[in-house]
Amino acid sequence: MTAQFDSKGNLRHLLTLEGLSREALLQLLGRAGQIRDAAMGRVKRRGTLARVAVCTLFFEPSTRTRSSFQLAAQRLGADILNFDASTSSIRKGETALDTMRNIEAMGVRGFVVRHPDDQIVERLAEAAGEGTALVNAGDGRNAHPTQGLLDMMTLRQAKGADFSQLKVLIVGDVKHSRVARSDLHALRILGVGQIRVCGPANLLPEDDVLQGCQVGQDFDEMLEGVDALILLRLQRERMEEGLVRSLDDYHARYGLNADRLRRAAPNAAVLHPGPINRGVEITDDVADGPQSWILRQVANGVAVRMAVLETLLT
Ligand code: CP
Repeated sequence: MTAQFDSKGNLRHLLTLEGLSREALLQLLGRAGQIRDAAMGRVKRRGTLARVAVCTLFFEPSTRTRSSFQLAAQRLGADILNFDASTSSIRKGETALDTMRNIEAMGVRGFVVRHPDDQIVERLAEAAGEGTALVNAGDGRNAHPTQGLLDMMTLRQAKGADFSQLKVLIVGDVKHSRVARSDLHALRILGVGQIRVCGPANLLPEDDVLQGCQVGQDFDEMLEGVDALILLRLQRERMEEGLVRSLDDYHARYGLNADRLRRAAPNAAVLHPGPINRGVEITDDVADGPQSWILRQVANGVAVRMAVLETLLT
């Protein structure tokens, strides 16, 4: 991913976690940890991005990512421009590239981009002017790097900084999940002891992203003794595509409930990137129960995104 780094090898855009060094990843997590209080609004907001304008350029819906980037930019003192594709000149046929260039011409230096097409954020980054930084907020099934970072931050809070003995299980529609890809890259970079991946055969990827993982289709078997579970959202269009028989069938085979959770290690951490399909990937009592770190993930998202914006824009 050449556009990600400048000629000196410094991070210029954040497009993917793949290929990031362990040091760079730990630096971002360390910075996020340091600014957690500012992220939660508990201490005076930092002004490190005063007079910098950041645009959230979203071509797909979002609650967590978009809101937390907006808060992150505000808490760093930036001007924030929220671009709404549904009411913009995209509706008249303007391209994503022309849209970015026009907003860039207004003096915006940071773009947080979500788009349904794989790789488009990289193409926009290649076209961005000197001094403009892009953050991939999710492109197609390719990458969602800040979700990967906030998931790692949450895992560290739940299980400590040494990942070498951890067993982590990723469950669900791995094939179509940009979250799973970013998590898999991050878990490998941080040297997790064992990565397990579980889901229906037709929702498991065939490329080398699963290299080195234990892969299986029996959720109960794969759950045995894991220290953390990352559940993935079942994208409902997979049912329309005939890849899932029914939501009830999916829940019976891959839904996490309190009985199943007992198979995992005591106090195993439960993560889910959201939005949750309650009663499909997870039951209410587990989603809202003592082992759930789901809302901590959301809180960590603000800190991680502050760290990323500060790193790229100062
Ligand atoms: N986790 C995540 O990307 O959520 P949103 O789609 O609400 O941003």
